[in-house]
This record gives sequence, C-alpha cells and structure tokens, in this order.
Amino acid sequence: MYRKRLGAMPTVTPWHLKPALGAHKRDFLSLHDITITEMEGLLKLAAEVKAHPKGFVTVLQGKMAALIFEKPSLRTRVTFEVGFEQLGGHAVYLAPGDIGLGKRESVGDVARNLSRWVDVMIVRTFSQALLEEMAHEARVPIINALTDLLHPCQAVADLLTIREAKGELKGLHLVYVGDGNNVALALAHAAGKVGMNFTMVCPPGYELNQDVLMEARADASSTGAEIRVVQDAKEVMGTADAVYTDVWTSMGQEKESEERRRNFAGYQVNENLMDLAPADALFMHCLPAHRGEEVTDEVVDGLQSVVLEQAENRLHAHKAILLALMAGQEEENGKKR
Ligand code: CP
Ligand code: NVA
Repeated sequence: MYRKRLGAMPTVTPWHLKPALGAHKRDFLSLHDITITEMEGLLKLAAEVKAHPKGFVTVLQGKMAALIFEKPSLRTRVTFEVGFEQLGGHAVYLAPGDIGLGKRESVGDVARNLSRWVDVMIVRTFSQALLEEMAHEARVPIINALTDLLHPCQAVADLLTIREAKGELKGLHLVYVGDGNNVALALAHAAGKVGMNFTMVCPPGYELNQDVLMEARADASSTGAEIRVVQDAKEVMGTADAVYTDVWTSMGQEKESEERRRNFAGYQVNENLMDLAPADALFMHCLPAHRGEEVTDEVVDGLQSVVLEQAENRLHAHKAILLALMAGQEEENGKKR
C-alpha cells in the first residue's frame, strides 16, 4: 500500500482501482469500466493529491512510464509527464511517428516489448479498438489519453473542477453545446456515474454515439440523472449549472472542417447564448479552443470561464488515476509478470 511508504500522511486515503477477480492489472480505457463507487473514490483521491501534493512525492519512486502519443497534445502530455515525475517516477515521451504503432511494428509487439521496460503506458491514438488491443497484450496498465471515441482523463478533471466550483455534482445540470465527440462522450459517461444531468445540444447528425449513450443512461438510471440530446440550446440553457463546448473539428477530421463550420454555425457559445444561462453558470472547454468558432474570446476569457482550472486539474486528476492503477498493486502485478 502506498500509505505505508508515505509514513506520516494521515489524511491520505488508501484507495485504488481493484482488478477484477482473476485479473492481474487494471486499465483506464473508458469511464464505463469504472464503478460508481470507484468514480467517487477517484475524485476523492484527486482532491487529496491536490490538497497534499507533498504527501505523494515518493509513491511511484523507481517507476517508469511510456507516453505514446499518435496525435499532438499540450495539456495531457505535460500533466502526465509532470504528474508522474511529481509522484517519484520517470516518464519517456514517444511522439507521433516515433514508433509507428501498428505500422512499423504490430500493436501486440509494441505492447509486449514496452511491458518489459515500463510500469504503465499512457496512450493517445485514433482508434479505441487499437487501445483495447494494447491493453489486452500489455502486462502493465494502459491509460486512455484520448482516442477518437473517448477522453476519460479529461472528464475526471472536469468533474473535479465542477465540484470545486459548485460544492457537489449530483443533481447539477451540465449543458454541452457542439459536436458529440470524444470529450462529450466521456462527459456523458462521467455525468451518469455521479448523478449529474447532462444535455447534449447539437445539430442533426452530430449526436452522441448510441452505445456510449446507452452506457451513460444505464448509470444515470442508478444515480438518478437524466441524459438528453436536443437541437435547440434555448430549451435548456435556463437550468444550466455549467455550459461546455469543444472544437467542431477534432484532430483527424481536418478534411471536414469547412462542412462542420457550416453545420455548427448556429451552435457557437457566445455572450448571447451565455446570457440565457444563470449568471453563476460555469463556462467550460477542454482546450485547445478554436476561438471565433465554437466559442468567442469574451466567453472563454470571461468571468464565468473555468478553463484554466480545468487545465490545472488535469494534473491532479492524472496523478490520482496513476495512483489508483499503480500504487499498492505492484506485488500483485509482480507475481504475474
Ligand atoms: N484537453 C486536452 O486534452 O488538451 P491537449 O490536446 O493539449 O492534451
Ligand atoms: N475533441 C478534441 C479534443 C482535444 C483535446 C479532439 O479530439 O481533437
């Protein structure tokens, strides 16, 4: 247990994501894989890591991480690298094209080789199926640092940010305006887990993936939340506790950007739209923002904006995810390796 190695840190909760019976490791590929109780534990741990960073500086001493990024990144890359080092470990960054994942070498071979050298892999790639294949082949935990389908690490940081600002999550209303992309889908999962109502506002054809929507609604039925999809923001802005948007064109969709700009034209989060929400509604964005498209400067830089709090909380959330997967489990992992 990491508590033992910490010595005098009575406030630290000894908590981690438990592998299922018979499994020797746990991955972090989708929030759907995390139970409602585990989600609460993860948020609690993130808050503790944020409040007491010094209490965790040696917890992952001697551990090595590989960051395998097939797409660009500022926040995710820096916060995982900095966070891992702040926990006492060391991270190696592999940039897009460095290893040719699935091209120069098969996904299985990459995963099996890296498993002999590092203790965790943090992977940003295109296909969720490729990530699942890596997780199947690797002997060490795999963390989803964004795929075309899901961005679960972002959603953990976002929940932490909302809870800090509002004091709670259950019963709040998060309105997401824009594309039903990886960020929106991870937020739908997250909202279902914590009992937060979630409304997706989008033009026809850009709705949430049906499988993820069903998963989110299954959790929402246990936690008492409602997950809805509408086309007109005016219907729902009046009860928003937070208004979230993300780019209309995600990484890898650049060829569609003109068409998407046309289709999303009425879906910009600007001052007129924010005026329909309560004055204390938060404005949220995972960043990077395409200023002048999905959001205006006035809103992203405005008083209701918590985008930099979200960015900061990436660090604390990622440290919590690393601890939850790695701390206290090396003995179990070691036996099987
Ligand atoms: N929000 C986010 O994931 O940012 P990066 O793409 O810069 O990592
Ligand atoms: N939806 C965006 C998120 C970037 C953090 C993308 O995938 O490009």
